[in-house]
Amino acid sequence: MRGTRVVQMDVEQLEQEARSALEQAKSLEQLEELRVRYLGRSSELKLALREVRDRETGMRLNALRQSLEVALGEKRSALEHGELQRKLLTENVDVTLPGEHFVEGHLHLITQIRREVEDIFLGLGYMIVDGREVETTHYNFDGLNMPLWHPTRLPSHSLFLNDDVLLRTETSPSQIRVMEAQAPPVYMISPGRVYRRDTTDATHSPVFHQVEGLAVDRGISLADLKGTLLHLMRALFGEKRELRFRTHFFPFTEPSIEPDVSCHMCDGAGCPVCKQSGWIEMGGAGIVDPNVLEFVGYDPEEVSGFAFGLGLERIALLRHRVPDIRLLWENDLRFSRQF
Ligand code: PHE
Repeated sequence: MRGTRVVQMDVEQLEQEARSALEQAKSLEQLEELRVRYLGRSSELKLALREVRDRETGMRLNALRQSLEVALGEKRSALEHGELQRKLLTENVDVTLPGEHFVEGHLHLITQIRREVEDIFLGLGYMIVDGREVETTHYNFDGLNMPLWHPTRLPSHSLFLNDDVLLRTETSPSQIRVMEAQAPPVYMISPGRVYRRDTTDATHSPVFHQVEGLAVDRGISLADLKGTLLHLMRALFGEKRELRFRTHFFPFTEPSIEPDVSCHMCDGAGCPVCKQSGWIEMGGAGIVDPNVLEFVGYDPEEVSGFAFGLGLERIALLRHRVPDIRLLWENDLRFSRQF
C-alpha cells in the first residue's frame, strides 16, 4: 500500500523538490548525491515504481523518471563544461615561462677522486674491492707480517675496540682478504677509510682515505709497479709527470719504496707545493713480501706481486692546492661547491 500512498500524495511534490535541487547543484559531487537520492535503487521513486499496480500510475511515474534523468543529464553537462572552463582558466600552463630551477648537488671532492682512480684501474682490468673498516689484528697486523712489537699495534697509535679488533689503520688488510679468497692472478684496488690516533692539523686527520692496490701474477716486478703508478699519476696530474722511487721499509713489502711524482705545479723546477724539491711524495709501495704470500697460501716461487697505498685526501689537496685537510670535512658549502 505504501507505493500507492506515495503515488497519490507525493508525485508532484517530489518532482518539484527534485527539479529545484538539481537546478541548485553546484558540483558534480553534489549532483551524484542527488542522483542517488531521487533516482537511485532505493529512492522513493524507484521503490514506488517497483510496487506499481495500475497502468496509469506506472506511466506517470515512468514519465517522471525519464524527465528527471534528462534534467540530471543536462545539469551534468552544464557542470562538466563549467568545470572544464574553470580548469582551463586556472590550471593553464605558460610553456614560455622559464622552468623552475632545482639546486643540484654534486659528489664530494674525495668521492670524485675515488671514482676517478677506480675508473683508471677499471681501464687496466683491475677489480674494485670493498674492505672492512673494522678489522681484526689478524688481518690488520699478523697477515701483513707485522711483528708483535710493531708500534702501530699500540693503543696510543691505533683505535682498538677490544684486544683483537680495531679500526683499520690502512687499507692493506684488504690485500690479505682478497688473496685468501681467490687464487692468483689478482689485480685489484680497494679504496676506503682508515683510522689513526692522530691529532688533527692542516695535514693530518684521524680519519682519512686510502686506495690500496695489489697485483699478483707470474713474473711481476718493480718495473710493473713503476709503469702502473706512472700511468696513474699521469692520468691524475697530467701527461708530463715523471716518477721516482726512494727506498723505504714496510713489513709487508720487500723491497719497499716510496714513489715521488714530479711536481705538477712547477714541472719539477721547485715551488712551494713541492717544497722547492720538484718532487712530491705520493704514498708507499713495494714488492709483496714472500711471508705475506705464504700467509695466504700462495707459493712465492710461483708468483710475485706488487702493492701500493695512496692517500686520496693527499691527491685532492695537491691537485686543487687546498691548503688544509680540515677544509675537506668542515662541510662549508662555499668550499665544497668549488669542485
Ligand atoms: N699501507 C701503507 C701505509 O699506510 C702503504 C703501503 C701499501 C705500502 C702497500 C706498501 C704497500 O703507509
